[in-house]
Amino acid sequence: MKKIRLMIALLGTGFLVLQFLGPDKPASVPAPNLSGIPEEVNAIIRNSCFDCHSSQTTLQWYDKLSPANLLVYDHIQKGRKALDFSKWDSLAPAAQSGILFYSLNKILENEMPLPSYTTVHPTKKISDGDIQVLKNFLVARTLSRPAANKARPQLTGSAGSQDAPSRLPVRPAPNGIEYLPDYRNWKVISITDRFDNGTMRIIYGNEVAVKAIRECKTNPWPDGSIFAKAAWKQQTNADGSITAGDFVQVEFMIKDAQKYASTAGWGWARWLGTGLKPYGEKAVFTTECVSCHSPRKDNDYVFTTPFTFKN
Ligand code: HEC
Ligand code: HEC
Repeated sequence: MKKIRLMIALLGTGFLVLQFLGPDKPASVPAPNLSGIPEEVNAIIRNSCFDCHSSQTTLQWYDKLSPANLLVYDHIQKGRKALDFSKWDSLAPAAQSGILFYSLNKILENEMPLPSYTTVHPTKKISDGDIQVLKNFLVARTLSRPAANKARPQLTGSAGSQDAPSRLPVRPAPNGIEYLPDYRNWKVISITDRFDNGTMRIIYGNEVAVKAIRECKTNPWPDGSIFAKAAWKQQTNADGSITAGDFVQVEFMIKDAQKYASTAGWGWARWLGTGLKPYGEKAVFTTECVSCHSPRKDNDYVFTTPFTFKN
């Protein structure tokens, strides 16, 4: 009994001593809101990300206890190094845009905020509602800009003001696949933003694809699933915002395991530019598509990890 009491006393003293010897608390300097970003988006990022990704860290008393603080402070240091939102204003607009897209992807992949952190700080979790706010903001930022519309003069259809013009009739692709103008009314299942070639892409899924996503039956994708990937040049506007500029192309993948057995179960097609010129000379243009998508063979040749839909 004495031994146990001694042990507890020793442990307690050790714990107290640790509190003095522990690592230095990271400095906290107030970080401003991200300029040019709506208040509701700022609120989400501030709440869930700023502790580790800005100069302003609000620590709870239990975060400061040694030895747990070793981990907490380490996360803050590494987090700030990986991404520091307090440097927002010094970033080029293209980089700002990229960070937001990249951040959304990290959130959707459940990598951020760190799960170990949200377990201890449940109010910092990103809710489904927050995700919707971020997605809506990014979709709007990518699409609905007057400058972007100016670059695409021949606009038609209800969704046309936000998309590639459809100057019918559009010639079919060399493998016989017909153009599908309706993709603009499909659901956006992902957005990617590539700075290596300066394009922004939106990936749409038709009803069959969206149903498969909801039911988590996406490997293999059911026959009838169709993806459209539309790409625009990135354009930096006078106010520094990044928007979709000239329309570059739209590509389709149409799932039919039997009909398209010779091309990995998908029908592939691409139309270029505002004139929607079919891509490829002969039907074999598809070997290019299949070979570049083949690293994703185990994922039914699809790259995109769709946004999850809640309703
Ligand atoms: C508890 C601390 C913590 C919180 C909160 C947090 N992160 Fe992180 N984040 C980190 C750490 C640590 C790293 C560096 C990981 C590494 O070095 O491997 C990181 C890295 C990142 C990266 C870069 C990833 C890469 O592959 O380079 C992004 C983007 C990111 N976080 C976004 C976010 C967003 C967005 C939020 C809020 C929704 C968030 N993080 C919240 C700790 C955090
Ligand atoms: C240089 C490699 C490459 C080639 C060639 C290529 N793709 Fe892709 N494709 C990708 C990548 C990477 C993605 C993921 C989204 C992104 O990064 O924009 C993608 C995504 C897609 C998507 C959205 C669904 C998905 O898999 O994520 C469609 C549709 C698509 N490609 C069609 C085509 C068609 C049609 C062709 C041929 C005319 C083609 N691709 C050729 C690399 C390629």
